[in-house]
Amino acid sequence: MDNEPKFFETNPQAKSVGQPMDRIDGRAKVTGAAKYAAEYPLPGLVYAALKTSEIAKGKIVSIDSAAAMREPGVVAVLTHENIPKLAQTPNTKDGKKAIGAPMGFMPLTGTEIFYAAQPVAVVVADTFERATHAASLVKVTYQQEAPVATFHDPKAVKVDPAKVQDGKTDGHTRRGDAQAAFAAAPIKLTATYNHATNNHNPMEPGSTTAQWEAADRLTVYESTQGITHTQQSLAVMLGLPREQVRVITKYIGGGFGCKGSCWPHTVLTAQTAKAVGRPVKLVLTRPQMFTSMGHREDQQQTLRLGATRDGKLTALIHEKVSTASMWDDYAEPNSKIVNLLYDCPTFESSYTLGRANVMTPTFMRAPGEAPGSFAIECSMDDLAATIGMDPLQLRLLNYAEQDPSTGQQWSSKGLKQCYARGAELFGWSKRNPKAGATRDGRLLVGMGMATASYPVHNSQGTARARLYADGHAVVQSGATDLGTGTYTVMTQVAADSLGLTPDKIRFELGDTKLPTAPNSGGSVAAGTVSSAIYLAAQDVVQKLIKVAVLDKKSPLFRAKPEDVQMKDGRLQLKADPKKGEEYTALMKRADMSDIEGSASGKYGAGYEEAAHAANADPAHKDEAGQHSMHSFGAHFCEVKVDPELGTVRVSRWVSVHAAGRILNAKTARSQIIGGSIFGIGSALMEATERDPNLARYTNANLAEYHIPVNADIPDMTVEFVDEHDPYINAMGVKGIGEISMVGVAAAVANAVAHATGRRVRDLPITPDKVL
Ligand code: MOS
Repeated sequence: MDNEPKFFETNPQAKSVGQPMDRIDGRAKVTGAAKYAAEYPLPGLVYAALKTSEIAKGKIVSIDSAAAMREPGVVAVLTHENIPKLAQTPNTKDGKKAIGAPMGFMPLTGTEIFYAAQPVAVVVADTFERATHAASLVKVTYQQEAPVATFHDPKAVKVDPAKVQDGKTDGHTRRGDAQAAFAAAPIKLTATYNHATNNHNPMEPGSTTAQWEAADRLTVYESTQGITHTQQSLAVMLGLPREQVRVITKYIGGGFGCKGSCWPHTVLTAQTAKAVGRPVKLVLTRPQMFTSMGHREDQQQTLRLGATRDGKLTALIHEKVSTASMWDDYAEPNSKIVNLLYDCPTFESSYTLGRANVMTPTFMRAPGEAPGSFAIECSMDDLAATIGMDPLQLRLLNYAEQDPSTGQQWSSKGLKQCYARGAELFGWSKRNPKAGATRDGRLLVGMGMATASYPVHNSQGTARARLYADGHAVVQSGATDLGTGTYTVMTQVAADSLGLTPDKIRFELGDTKLPTAPNSGGSVAAGTVSSAIYLAAQDVVQKLIKVAVLDKKSPLFRAKPEDVQMKDGRLQLKADPKKGEEYTALMKRADMSDIEGSASGKYGAGYEEAAHAANADPAHKDEAGQHSMHSFGAHFCEVKVDPELGTVRVSRWVSVHAAGRILNAKTARSQIIGGSIFGIGSALMEATERDPNLARYTNANLAEYHIPVNADIPDMTVEFVDEHDPYINAMGVKGIGEISMVGVAAAVANAVAHATGRRVRDLPITPDKVL
């Protein structure tokens, strides 16, 4: 087959990749042997606790630390008056950009308060309990002002996104004349969608252990999805050469985007360690998680959809307004998915930001695509209901055979197979088209579905592979493992690429001393790191082949390198496999203890360039950059709604995705299950409440910020369609971290609308809105 990736051609022995191998770090995690960022018992370690602002806007008049300092074990109370100064804050105009620090403001740099729970002091003591207690004794006097809580407040200053310079929003987009097309459309639908503020709640909160080895040399154990960004940001803000900051992240207890950046608490911990001259550990409390590492912004989308009477889209007009912080212009880019999901000749989008006294919002799983898909996928169902067409049929009618937003061909698109397989597994054909007509006893039953898509972002990773003459290998890349299986899948890829079994591979990650890899974010880690490992292994193999063909004692002496392959630990002639030898024999004869290879693996930008890469097919290389690269999927949801109580329970779930090569059937399935549950949470439960007058948080805890528990979730059916993409990267991996969540809220909302005949457009869909 033309599109067949070359991986299995070079490595026909591939046995490990794709297998449902158990997590290799599973035992270490459940036995407590896995070390998280707050579990390094450094000599002399002291504990930091944050004292945070009780007001959301105003000024610090005075801070009285005397009572806290009198407590036993207290080492220091640091405020804006005595904390070591930063070389620069992230937003210093003439400074170097701290690329991984999304928040322009740094606490403890002055007296101004911009948001509730802004850190105002760091208290250090010999135990966590003493630090926490002493922090409660720090007395702050404020000059309070009336804050702005959300963009809904008329006092919220509106920002024109066209003026946003830093690319954090995609501003205004126009394709064709959407206004005219909408005005002329026989079917016009206008709907407004609201999305509550959502907060990331990984099991492991944000945590930092900082140790200065010398006045100008820092090591940080950090719970982060990106050690390189953290290193770069700390180096810039602390005024150090980058190589004098080391960031170590061996295990992470979840992140979902909030650990994709370097936030103030990390910088404060480094400053504090400097001030007290000892290693310092800071672990955010659960309430502080709501105000320290960003959030998904509260937002309103208005979508106008024009169509013909038989359901063909003619116009899409998308507007978004969301709450932004006082300094930063972040808004998740919802409109991109609205622009490309269906074949529609015209499109227009715009953004508005409303400044409020909140901290800076940030990426949360499928930033942009998750809420954007909620709008387009609910409106598609409304269109289906309006013209009396089956929702899946309507989606097929508007199927985009190429990317409407760019006009490019897709690098691959298995969406039709996802629809067909998902519908089959779910029993979509049994759905009664009439809303409110299906019952299970006194419960109303609804069936809904939605499309998922997520881009393959452009990124690059590097890896190093060292093969030893005794038949084992150490493979390294400065990646991170959120808990989703990076350790495991990279071990599988390394094993197949080197012709070894997985038990002969040690894969190391999470240290800035290792070759640079991108964040575990934007679904790029699996593709970039696996491709880099595969290519690094190719580098090793090619080096070995060169040694063999020059070795008089080798059976391969004077063979052409391109005629030789590595298989099952043997170097042998492709045409005559019997002619060859174990590479260990070759290495021993050549007196080599080990041999190293390295490579970079690009993601999305195009084809691999390394001349020795088995799949560096020049014919494909130029085409690669001209393709639109996305994964696709479909979610099917059944809900049961209590008509008296308004409660919604998800009773059945089917997800089918096409995401290129699946590296591990088990971890991939778990990833989709996790992302779908995340989406069900945002659909039915999750909402961070800010008091509209005080802009303080009323439910910053896991008792009142509801997330799904096991009892809320049915058995879920997850499948992948077999998809080979020859353009995206050496391994043909698209990534599945984000797409798992895209469309989920819409599938739930569409099922609720089908059950009840009531369309709820405000997330979360709580009982009060259903009744
Ligand atoms: Mo993801 S929101 O890019 O961690």
